[in-house]
This record gives sequence, structure tokens and C-alpha cells, in this order.
Amino acid sequence: MSAAPAPELLQRLERHGQAHVLRHLGELSALERARFLGVVEALDLPLIDELARLARAGAQPAAVASFAPPEVFRPRREGSATPRVRELRERGEELQASGAVAWLLVAGGQASRLGYEGPKGAFPVGPVSRRSLFEIFARKLLAARARYGVETPWYVLTSEANDATTREFFARHGHFGLPPDDVVFFRQAMLPALDEQGRILFAARNELFLAPNGHGGVLAALASSGALAHARARGIRVFSYFQVDNPLAPPADPLFLGLHAAQGAQMSSKVVPKRDPAEKVGVIGRADGKLTCIEYSDLPNDLREARDARGELVFGDGNIALHAIDLEFVDALTARGFKLPWHLARKKMSVLDEHGRPAQREGFKFETFVFDALSLARASATLEVDRREEFSPVKNAEGQDSPATARADLCRLHAGWVRAAGLPLPPPDAHGLHPVEVDPCLAEDAETFTRRAPRAPTSSADGHLYT
Ligand code: UD1
Repeated sequence: MSAAPAPELLQRLERHGQAHVLRHLGELSALERARFLGVVEALDLPLIDELARLARAGAQPAAVASFAPPEVFRPRREGSATPRVRELRERGEELQASGAVAWLLVAGGQASRLGYEGPKGAFPVGPVSRRSLFEIFARKLLAARARYGVETPWYVLTSEANDATTREFFARHGHFGLPPDDVVFFRQAMLPALDEQGRILFAARNELFLAPNGHGGVLAALASSGALAHARARGIRVFSYFQVDNPLAPPADPLFLGLHAAQGAQMSSKVVPKRDPAEKVGVIGRADGKLTCIEYSDLPNDLREARDARGELVFGDGNIALHAIDLEFVDALTARGFKLPWHLARKKMSVLDEHGRPAQREGFKFETFVFDALSLARASATLEVDRREEFSPVKNAEGQDSPATARADLCRLHAGWVRAAGLPLPPPDAHGLHPVEVDPCLAEDAETFTRRAPRAPTSSADGHLYT
């Protein structure tokens, strides 16, 4: 194997103003050199030219002239036992029983805010069981497969940074009882971070500074990895999309899937009322008439605070990143070389300077966001759900949206089910929380919990676990 760069590669890099990436080649071992050249060969230089132009122009989001709230179906306010809700639930149940729904988890992110070594899905979030996020989702999937009598496949998006550790975690846990062939891992692309002049940055002498290309990368990766073809061959028509950070996510929700199908939607979203104007969630809305999610940082202050006559936030439909996405929609987009807009994150990064010394430099990371595909959908449904039942993400190490708040929310929700079933709760802890957890394989809500008349829980120093 030759370890020197081919002259053709050098010329190509020069043409794109990136020849400096070969700067440290002479300092690398033969093996490192071969590996490094492999990474350089794979760079999409025309795309990097486009990103470099954006970096030089600065990280300004496109200006938006008008914002408007979306149309939202709110059964929580309008009554959840109406004939329409029953009808939609039945439709969602039929869809699942026909085997047309697959689960799609995005888990390619770097979990930098949580500061956890290893894939975020391996984080032990179960308040009593200490089960990982992955295991909680796997048990929800086992329950849905049993309920509908189908072999729902699970597509798991990873990235270069966590693909091997994610696969290894699943293998070590026997895929949590799922057939390994039904768990399909596929990788999103990585992109180099660029400096303000658009030059590729180094993380180390033998390593470019690469980062995952954002969860919007899931769409292209579905197609390029063969996962889309795999899903089509399995008769899948809809992907139920969720994020790795939210242990309350219910990807088998019949109402949402039924609403999506009944409205002929290509991509749909769930929202919860924002906690307060400052909550760091995007809001679903129309920007210049187009349905999208507007990140909290892009929403002008006056709009963020605006309230209607009832005192509710005008832009209060917080995006909880639960979507239904049609397979044909993904296919049509990816087949005709679609483009999602680039979002630039300007950050101080630990890189190497021109002399190969460690330095802190301003640079840009580039991501696309899956919700930008909403504006490309022919039709879309938006459903408001109850935060207490569906959303408690683990994002930060401490404070809001942390392991502590997610565990507390799981306990609160499950304690409500135990109470509704007339069963005793363990004594409250110092924060007034009853440490109780219900296995997703036993029940998915208060009603099924009561109906299944569970046996006495396993009790430990950590609390009660119903299985
Ligand atoms: C995200 C949404 C926000 C929403 C909130 C709900 C963005 C930009 N914003 O915020 O509108 O209100 O969730 O919790 O997404 N991921 C990948 N590959 C990547 C990047 C991320 O798979 O390249 C995955 C992560 O593993 C994670 C999810 O996407 O499962 C969310 O990523 P994160 O960057 O943490 O989103 P937030 O900024 O928290």
C-alpha cells in the first residue's frame, strides 16, 4: 500500500484551496498516513467549497419576513374521547398491525452537553432499573411488536464517532431480546469543521476535525446506506422518528400515526406547549408561509414573548422531535438530489494551529436539520401532546433537561399509573418523589397498566419496579 499522496490528490486539494491538510503527513507513521489519506480521499471537496463560502460570509440565518403559528390538532383541549380521536387511533392501530411502520432513531450526535463517554443511548436513565435509553426503547419496541403481531424493524442512525460503540453495546446486551437482523444500524456522513477563511481544521496531526452532519443527514443516509431499500423490501410505508435523548418518546402512538395517515401527510410532528418563552426548544410554525421548526435562537424576542388574548404564547408549539415520515417522501427527496439548508454553528474549538500546536480557534461546524424537510412535504399534520407523558429529554449533565429531571418525570408518570390502579406506592424520597418504574413491556399507559393487573413489584433500595 503506498503511503504517499497521489499527485492527482495533491492537485485536487490545491484546486480547492485545502492542500494544507497534507501538512503533517511526513510526521505520521506509515499506518497513520494510510488511514489519514483514506479520510482525505473521501472528502467531498465541491461540498466543502460551498461550506467554505458560507463560513467566509459568517453564520447568518436566512432573514425571515413573517412568522405564523401552525394549524395544530389539540385533542387534549378539544377532548380526547371524541369519535374522531377513536377513529384516528384505530387507523394508527391498523397501520401498525399491517406491518407498515418502522422505527427510526437518530443517535448520531456527540452528547457533548451531557459530557458522557460513550454513545448517549447507553446512558442509564431508568430511575429504578438503571436501564439505558437504548434498552428502554428496545423494550417499547418489543411491546409494540407483540401487541400488533408484527416484526417491526428498527433503524438506528449512528455516526463515525459512535457507530462501533453503539453496535458493540447492542451486541453485548443481546440486542435486548430483539432479533439482531431487525436492528439496522446506518451511518450519517461527517463533515470537517472550517476556520473563518474556510480552511479545514485539524483535531490532531493525524486527524482532521470532523463532526456529524446534523440529524438532517438521516435522510440521505437512509438512501445511501441501503436502509431505505431494506425498509421498502419489508413493506414499510412510514418511519416513526425519535431522538435518543427522550426516554418518554412513544414511537408506537396510534393516534399520531393515524392522524398522519388520515391527513395524507408526508411528514408530521408532535408538539407540547412551551414551558415558558425561554425554554430551549424550537417551535413549529410557518416562516414566510413555509412549515418548519424555528429554533428558539432564531425567533425574535418580541415573537418569543408574544401572547394571545387567553394569555398563551402565540409561538408556543414546542418541537419535541417526534415525527412520522413517509418512506416515499424520503425516496422522492433523496432520488432527486434534494438539499436541506446548512446551519452554521460558530464555536471555539480545540484544534492545531498552523505550526501544529494545540490552540483554541473560532471555527464553524455545519449541520442540516431534519425538520427543514417539513417545508418540502405536500401535507403535514401537527399534534399537540402532553409533555408529562411524552417529553423529558436528557440534554445537560445537571439542571433542566438532565438525567435527574428525566428520572423524576419517569417516576411521576409511573406513580400516576400505580395510583390510578389503586396500588400502593413506595414512600416518597427527599424530593417528594415516589421511586417507581414500570417496564415498557408491561404497560404503555395508565389504562394498560390497570388492565394487566400487575403482580407485586420487585422492590429494592432504589424503589419499586413493575415488570
Ligand atoms: C433538538 C431540536 C429542537 C427540539 C429539541 C427537542 C435541533 C437543532 N433542535 O434540539 O428544535 O426542540 O431537540 O428535544 O435539532 N443527532 C444526530 N446527528 C447529528 C446531530 C444530532 O443523530 O449530527 C441526534 C442526536 O443524537 C439527538 C438528536 O439528534 O438524538 C438531537 O440533537 P441535539 O443536537 O441534541 O438537539 P437539540 O439542540 O437538543
